[in-house]
Amino acid sequence: MKSELSKIKEQAIEDFKEVVDLEKLEQLRVKYLGKKGELTGVLRGMGKLTAEERPVIGQLANEIRAQLEETIESRKSELAHIARQAKLEAETIDVTLPGKPVATGKRHPLTQVLDEIKEIFLGMGFTIEEGPEIESDYYNFEALNLPKEHPARDMQDSFYITNEVLLRTHTSPVQVRTFESNFPQVPLRIIAPGKVYRRDDDATHSPMFHQVEGFVVDKEVTFGDLRGTLLTFAKEMFGEDREIRLRPSYFPFTEPSAEVDISCVNCDGQGCRVCSNTGWLEILGAGMIHPKVLANTGYDPEKVTGFAFGMGVERIAMLKYGINDLRMLFENDIRFLDQF
Ligand code: DAH
Repeated sequence: MKSELSKIKEQAIEDFKEVVDLEKLEQLRVKYLGKKGELTGVLRGMGKLTAEERPVIGQLANEIRAQLEETIESRKSELAHIARQAKLEAETIDVTLPGKPVATGKRHPLTQVLDEIKEIFLGMGFTIEEGPEIESDYYNFEALNLPKEHPARDMQDSFYITNEVLLRTHTSPVQVRTFESNFPQVPLRIIAPGKVYRRDDDATHSPMFHQVEGFVVDKEVTFGDLRGTLLTFAKEMFGEDREIRLRPSYFPFTEPSAEVDISCVNCDGQGCRVCSNTGWLEILGAGMIHPKVLANTGYDPEKVTGFAFGMGVERIAMLKYGINDLRMLFENDIRFLDQF
């Protein structure tokens, strides 16, 4: 029995040394030292021993059990150490690897374009005014030479709140408000950016969109000043090579009135799909401020004159970046917005 016990001991120690993972080690512990294990199995034969032999074998068995348990414990910590070492090695940080990019936010393309427009006009000595988005019929239409029955009101299909109050359809009412609050001061060089609202909704129209109104009032302001100002704007916004073209048009609050085109940003005026083969792209409406508008607010149209213009910010952004569906600007799709 003694030799059986020491054989088990030697075999067990050998097995423990060979094992390389903690799970298998536990299985071996059960195999040798468990209730149904080999050591216990041998000790079952103790009944056949003499009374003198029994305590000797018992003690030997206890010693072997203690020894094996100790071996298991030390093998366990050895394996744990090896496992930890392997994990550390696998996790080694390579300081030469490029870092993970930090996602930074940015301004919405419309905000970028709006900021650019502001910057260009601030550079020419303009200052910024704002007006309310909920506007009275008087400021939105009447004072701009658009009386109630005027057919040109149809050009701006409106959201009315009451008969006399509506969501402003353009930024032109800021002209009237500025004239009223500054009279009789000149010169006035103002831009008025902001949201406007119309009952329109398709690929090039949104019920809410942005305009920038601009106007200058002084002694002897001419149509030439208007052209020079807009040419400077076109070149700074769309590149040094841009030309502008003024076509006769009609707005009730300007006389004469013009639609202003820039030479096509895509083909440089040669004619292409973007400009419908005309070589030109319409960017804004403009004109000399109608004498009635000035007179409505106290200014004497015999003594001061002014020019005005109004542009759509979405349209400018679409032309500048080649966006062909305006609605993308309002869908908040990061994959789209991230490109600007
Ligand atoms: N308010 C006009 C519109 O929304 C745009 C406009 C045209 C503004 C001519 C002006 C101007 O100041 O002179 O359609």
